[in-house]
Amino acid sequence: MITDAEREMTNYAHAGNLKSRIDLYRYREPRFDPVDTAVELLPKEGLGLVLDVGAGIGRYTRRLRAEHPRAAVVAIDKSPGMLAEVEAPVMVADAQAIPYPDDSADAVLAMHMLYHVADVAEALAEFRRVLKPGGTFLASTNIAGDMAEIGAVWERAARSTTGPGAYDFNTALDGFNSASAPAPLRAAFDTVEEFREEGVVKVPEPGPLLGYLASLRSWADCEDAAFDALLEAAARELAGHFAEHRTFDFTKTAVFYRCH
Ligand SMILES: C[S@@+](CC[C@H](N)C(=O)[O-])C[C@H]1O[C@@H](n2cnc3c(N)ncnc32)[C@H](O)[C@@H]1O
Repeated sequence: MITDAEREMTNYAHAGNLKSRIDLYRYREPRFDPVDTAVELLPKEGLGLVLDVGAGIGRYTRRLRAEHPRAAVVAIDKSPGMLAEVEAPVMVADAQAIPYPDDSADAVLAMHMLYHVADVAEALAEFRRVLKPGGTFLASTNIAGDMAEIGAVWERAARSTTGPGAYDFNTALDGFNSASAPAPLRAAFDTVEEFREEGVVKVPEPGPLLGYLASLRSWADCEDAAFDALLEAAARELAGHFAEHRTFDFTKTAVFYRCH
């Protein structure tokens, strides 16, 4: 029996799956880079130690090192494979047990990662513990119901292939989204500010959409053949869509929380 945690480690064993998902957002309108928003929301100066937790391929880490050359920006991730291409200092660690002393960091980031953490409240308590008094915690995630248009394609394809229970595209990330995040954040921090970046992704061809769906393979509780059949069913549906429409459109709205 494969556990959810093992499925997640398989998905994040290397950078390829995450890169496929990020690739889809190059068609977003208006154009937007979440890294720009993070830079805007963090203090402009005076940062010493910054911990980028769940750093993945290090896109925030890299930019923050460039913006704050005097700061020590450490990329932390549970998966060593994700950190393989990120320059030192990097650290393999879990968000729920960060190997830094109390009151040591000026800023902690948890960008699009808290929905993967087993115990969100425990991770938030850990972020608060390592932050200096007055330090900044920044998190990002998706709005509730994000990408429902792709979720509908997935669901129809799953019905006749993997079965609907293999993976629930529409609720898998609900553990930390715009609906579920505010309560634990308010419990852990004194102030919580919310910022939204609304957008629509208009994809001009099926390839990147199928790449996105394919990147979810390790999370689906089914045989490879059933997952291949799901991708084929989705490809047929998308071919029908593109026969009539120039683009496949879906909502993509990111939400950021700045906490003290
Ligand atoms: C969706 S990616 C986001 C990566 C990066 N923050 C970004 O936005 O580009 C989620 C990352 O969180 C990591 N992760 C998941 N659970 C974690 C945990 N409990 N502790 C540390 N990292 C974790 C995964 O390995 C993956 O690299």
